[in-house]
Amino acid sequence: MAVKVSARGQIDPFIVMDVMREANAMAATGEDIVHLEVGQPGTPAPERVLEAAERALRDNRLGYTDAMGIPQLRERIAEHYVVMYGVDVSPERVVVTTGSSGAFLLAFLGAFDSGDKVALAAPGYPSYRNILSALGIEPVVFETRLADRYQPTPGLLSERAADLDGLIVASPSNPTGTMIGGAEMAALTAHCRDRGVRFISDEIYHGITYGHESVTALAYDDEAVIINSFSKYFSMTGWRLGWMIVPDSMLRSVECLTQNLFISPPTLSQHAAVAAFDSHDELRAKVAKYARNREILLSELPKVGFDKLAPADGAFYVYADVAQLTNDSPDFCRRMLAEARVATTPGLDFDPYRGNSFVRFSFAGTEDDMRQAIDRLGDWRPGS
Ligand SMILES: Cc1ncc(COP(=O)(O)O)c(C=O)c1O
Repeated sequence: MAVKVSARGQIDPFIVMDVMREANAMAATGEDIVHLEVGQPGTPAPERVLEAAERALRDNRLGYTDAMGIPQLRERIAEHYVVMYGVDVSPERVVVTTGSSGAFLLAFLGAFDSGDKVALAAPGYPSYRNILSALGIEPVVFETRLADRYQPTPGLLSERAADLDGLIVASPSNPTGTMIGGAEMAALTAHCRDRGVRFISDEIYHGITYGHESVTALAYDDEAVIINSFSKYFSMTGWRLGWMIVPDSMLRSVECLTQNLFISPPTLSQHAAVAAFDSHDELRAKVAKYARNREILLSELPKVGFDKLAPADGAFYVYADVAQLTNDSPDFCRRMLAEARVATTPGLDFDPYRGNSFVRFSFAGTEDDMRQAIDRLGDWRPGS
């Protein structure tokens, strides 16, 4: 008799991980691939973090820690909110997590019951809807507009659903890089609070912005759940460390969830990450490199056939409308990889409705990667 496999586990793939696997397999056979698919810094963790990790390896037993994280790190994270945003937050409300990915699981379990409805924008980060689906929470995906910088607005939310339990936003967003300003954040959080809708703010790309200021939802809504990570600005993807700021109303339940699901976040990473907050000079130099890469893509991509680009306010992505070139973005990206040897991510990963006519380019790599990609795409001529 056949043994059952769960229906709720049958979620969509995170397509970029599939693309990465394919690109890495080609690279392993000696192919020279330019990686513009991955959303991760090409650089290691800051020097001080590496030194702190070496000390911790030598001196620390590296056993389990408190489920919510080591006190020194929770305090540094709380202090970060005063320094960066002028917002006071008690270290008790800081929950250290296994990447922001671990934080999503805790936030969704802590805030929503199965059957609840949670709104999110398309285009947007695919794992929100896939994790919600696996948990039996209904993702209400709504199409945002370029005119609104692909971000949700109170108007769009009202049009779509009156009975929402939550809203997830990301500013800067993945895949577009577009941001929510202070006035818009105030309006969105007020709209949600008035209707009892839990606001979840993914702030993982804060710090990586180009002339725009990141605003935290915490400044506007004390009931918001804030999610952040050491992966992007802090250049520590593989250390698998993130954090949440949790409202008092959810604190004990999130503590019990994280005790049972994770026991504690990675200990070595926690000790090392304390030093991340003393590394802003080094980190700002990395952001300056992304800014140069961004300039190259924004000025050169139009010359090689990609001329409809979303405003890349922050993060390290350019989201291109390629409707004139394809209505099958996975096939388009596959051909680009096979023929031009440039790996990119099909828009379908981020937008189940319009994603077939979009492609995401990541500029987290080196300046040389950007120039190589432009040369190759120029020779490939996607329109011909
Ligand atoms: C918007 C967004 N949120 C969360 C994540 C997950 O990051 P991590 O689990 O490494 O913190 C990513 C990764 O690309 C992302 O783009």
